[in-house]
Amino acid sequence: MTRKDFLKTACGGALGALFFMSFNSCKSPASPNASDDANQKTFTSTSNSGHTHRITINRSDIENPPAAGITRQTSSASGHTHNFTMSQAQLQSVNSGNSVDITDSVSSGHSHQYTIEKWF
Ligand SMILES: [Fe+2]
Repeated sequence: MTRKDFLKTACGGALGALFFMSFNSCKSPASPNASDDANQKTFTSTSNSGHTHRITINRSDIENPPAAGITRQTSSASGHTHNFTMSQAQLQSVNSGNSVDITDSVSSGHSHQYTIEKWF
């Protein structure tokens, strides 16, 4: 191998590696809300006592609200959860296009608010 051949090979390898790295860095990141789709949406509460909770609402809850409404447990944060309740009338109001503010149950001496609105 001549010196010229060696340089050609070395440069080709380096360029190839650069091309591969730049190609790889162009991959788009995963969607931050990959769990949200048309069938459900996760809402985050206001912050209180330094934390928030999340609640997932199903599209079917909005489109076909049960007579008794819905009651769910929020996600856990700071070692506790809250109960989240919406009446049938509140779910129907969301289905009509309104934003509805919901306050969850008192737990560990505080509660949180959620603004629920139609997403589909
Ligand atoms: Fe809380």
